[in-house]
Amino acid sequence: MKVNFTNHPLIQHKISIMRDVNTGSKDFRELVSEVAMLMCYEVTRDLQLQSVEIETPITKTTVKMMPSCKMAVVPILRAGLGMVEGIVKLIPSIKIGHIGLYRDPQTLKPVEYYCKLPADIADREVLLVDPMLATGGSAAAAIKFLKDRGVKKIKSVHIIAAPEGVQVLNLQHPDVDVYCAALDEKLNEHGYIVPGLGDAGDRIFGTK
Ligand code: PRP
Ligand code: URA
Repeated sequence: MKVNFTNHPLIQHKISIMRDVNTGSKDFRELVSEVAMLMCYEVTRDLQLQSVEIETPITKTTVKMMPSCKMAVVPILRAGLGMVEGIVKLIPSIKIGHIGLYRDPQTLKPVEYYCKLPADIADREVLLVDPMLATGGSAAAAIKFLKDRGVKKIKSVHIIAAPEGVQVLNLQHPDVDVYCAALDEKLNEHGYIVPGLGDAGDRIFGTK
């Protein structure tokens, strides 16, 4: 199984609070955003910088800076939306696309209902974000969407993953780097991650 862990102690602590059934929507939403921001730090570790001449108050010097941003963050609606703010805080010029998918509760297969991506998405590195990677069906479908539109570099970023979901992505999209902050035990008979944190979308938006 090929997966990158972002297991900083602060991330682990925040996920533990998210897992707690007594954590309400306001705190849950803030924690999703904070964890996404901390994960973004690790996920962008391979970012290529360019040398730029600047002048400090003391002297001229050459420094390293990000070239004009060629990245996009694409949340899988709804729950992925919760991860966008934290990433945009770190990379303010990143473009944002949206892919709307929901998982049919009977078949557990993803159903598409929306897609709006930056016009030049094919030229951008994409951070696909969704807090939960369960069967992997939603992320695999979203990745296919992006590839069909010419995207060549994709990182699939999830807060909690099930081994089943990681395996599906490794198998169907071996070229995509998968990131997660926690790799849980398994899926239950309803396709929920165990121990997991329940339905991330409902907990972010307070819909249950
Ligand atoms: C959840 C979650 C993922 C998907 C993961 O979305 O946010 O998108 O399920 O499951 P999978 O790996 O088995 O496809 P959900 O369908 O509950 O929609 P929501 O975000 O609108 O709540
Ligand atoms: N989607 C969620 O929000 N939680 C799970 O455990 C599985 C899919």
